Parts: sequence; structure tokens; C-alpha cells
Amino acid sequence: MKPIEEYKEISDKEINAALDFAEKMVLKNLGEFTTKFQKAYSENNFYEPVDNTDWTGGFWTGEIWLAYENCLRNGRSEDAIKLRSAAEIQVESFLDRIENKIEVDHHDMGFLYTPSCVAAYKLTGNEKAKKAALLAADQLIKRFHPVGEFIQAWGPMNAPENYRLIIDCLLNLPLLYWASEETGDNKYRDIAEKHIHTAVRNVIRDDYSTWHTFFFNMETGEPDHGATCQGYRDGSAWARGQAWGIYGMACAYRYTKQEDYIEKFKNVTGYFLEHLPEDMIPFWDLEFTDGDDQPRDSSSAAIAACGMLEMCKYLNKDDADKYRSIAYKLMKSLYENYAVHSYDESNGLVLHSTYSNHSPYNTCNHYGVDECNIWGDYFYFEALTRMVCDWNQYW
Ligand code: GLY
Repeated sequence: MKPIEEYKEISDKEINAALDFAEKMVLKNLGEFTTKFQKAYSENNFYEPVDNTDWTGGFWTGEIWLAYENCLRNGRSEDAIKLRSAAEIQVESFLDRIENKIEVDHHDMGFLYTPSCVAAYKLTGNEKAKKAALLAADQLIKRFHPVGEFIQAWGPMNAPENYRLIIDCLLNLPLLYWASEETGDNKYRDIAEKHIHTAVRNVIRDDYSTWHTFFFNMETGEPDHGATCQGYRDGSAWARGQAWGIYGMACAYRYTKQEDYIEKFKNVTGYFLEHLPEDMIPFWDLEFTDGDDQPRDSSSAAIAACGMLEMCKYLNKDDADKYRSIAYKLMKSLYENYAVHSYDESNGLVLHSTYSNHSPYNTCNHYGVDECNIWGDYFYFEALTRMVCDWNQYW
């Protein structure tokens, strides 16, 4: 990468054009994706409609709410009504899903219920959304292990092969803070805080790269070992894991106000930035750089930009200016080189993401490689939104 000063920031004109395009794309997609959801990843750059059963449905509803907010800001009230009605149909689906426990035995309750139902409640006071999000918070805290003090990510509980957290979970925790605020019951917040401290202590390595997943001893709760699932190899830094770490540290600081988390945010962000290629958009694992024949993960850049923009609220002016400027530079590259600019190209917003790239050293399946990913689209839209208003965040 060139020195960071040599990169250009996204301009106001580009931000507004990108927001308007995103809003129009969401509106155009409502016909196909109101009772159905966009799949986690596109195939040949087009999403198929799917039921609300994956961990990713909340991002599509979140995009609808972001488009709704963009319409309201710009006085397009008829379109805002259309968007709100569609999002409310999706909220019903989320309530049904949690009431009937459909594919909810995992930790992704925050990814599912924050941008869909917490957003709905914050924006419109929707009581069904509140009920659904509180049930999701109850479901999430069932996965907390007092021995080790963490929320287990995947799989049946109390099996040594599942006794681990993953870095992504930091974004599931704002749901718990919200639940405590709404109910006045601190049990959600207490669990979130314990998990945050355990995660931060263990997933950040000495060089400030991060483990994707971290195991604990089931009997003693002692930290055992780190491992990857979606990264290239155990010791490498999966790009999206590092990006979840950036946004996760911003949320960790926002909610705990623990002073040393500011430094940790800077460290994790620094590692990410030091391992970017020439156009600032990471390859799927930070081990790779220019010249490597590997796919990108554009979604990581969008997540990192959101994390930096969130953290700017809590930093001193010089630091805030620095990270805001970097976020604007990441977004410039995404807008110019990765974003969708016509409906013929895709029904998503950002190309060249990687969901799950199998390598000889990792344990994941192979799908959504060099495609749109629904969370990449969502966080790109969120970052743009953060740039035009003092956004009342969903997380
Ligand atoms: N949270 C799963 C992923 O980032 O792929």
C-alpha cells in the first residue's frame, strides 16, 4: 500500500450517489424479497430468494431499514411507507422464527435480530419487533458458559469440540445491552460484559492479528488454544475476523468504557491496515497481498469502515480525524472499484466478497467466493449512512 496520505476520500457527491443507488436497489428488490430474504451470498452476482433460516436474514431487513431512513431524510415519504411495510412483514417472520425456535441454536441472535427487530423498534416503536428481539436475547444468553465466561458460538452445548467462542460474536452482544436497557434486567449486560473481557483477552495475538475461534478447557475454563475455521490457516489472520475485531472493539469500548480498549482498537485496526493491498480492499485472508491469485473480501473493508466511524465518537479529535479519514478512503475504493453501479451487473450492492473459502488448512466449506455477500452490502450501506447523519445506530 502507498502511504495512507496518498489515498483520496470518498466525496459528499459520491456518498449521496451511493446512498441513492442503494435505496433504489433495495426498492427494486422488494418484489422478490419481502416474504423471502436475500441469500447469504450471490451466485454470479445475483442473490436468490430464500426463507428466513440462515444466520444472515437480518442484514437484508437491515438494508430495508437503512433505505427507509434514507427516504425519510430525503422527503420521499411514499417510498418510505413501502419500505416500512416490507420490513414489518419481515419482522413478523423474525417473531415467528424465534417463537418457533427455527434454526436458532447458535450465537448469531445479534446478527439476526439487531438490524431487523432492534432497528424496527428504535425507528418505529414496533412492539412485535421488541418482543422478538427480547426473545432472541433470552435465547443468546442460554449459550453462556460460566466456566470460562463466554458465549459458545456453534453446536450442541457442553461438548469439548464446541467449547469455544469466535471473534464475530462481539457484534452479537449489542443485542444484550439493548435487552438490559429495555427490561431493566442487568443479566443480559453482565453476560455480554463477561464475554467481551474473555474474548478480548484471548483472541488478540501478540502482533495484534486475531484468532477466528478460541477454545477453553471445559473443566477449568482455562484458555486452551486458538484455531481458524474460515481463515487460510490457524496462524494467519482471516480478513473478516480482523474486521469483526475492529467493529467489535469499537462496540466493546462503547459499552464497557474500559480505557485500554481504545489502544486495543488501534492495535487491531493497525494490523488490518498494515496488511492491505494497493487498493486498500483486503484479500480474504490478510496473509495474501498484491500478486497473490486469491479472492478479495470487500465486506471486510465495509465492516472495518463502520467500526472506525463508530470509534471516532469516543476518540480525541486528532485520532477521530485520523480514523474517519481512513474510513472515507476505504469507502472511496469500495465505491470506485467494488460497488455495483447498474442493475444489470447484480441485485446486490458490493461485488468481490468472500464468505467461505476452503483451503488445505481450514475446516470450512467452499461457497460465496468472489460474490456479493449480504453483510457486505449491509455494512457498506451502514457506513454511507454514518457519513451523512448522526446515525442512531442499530447495534
Ligand atoms: N459470522 C460469519 C462470517 O463472518 O462469515
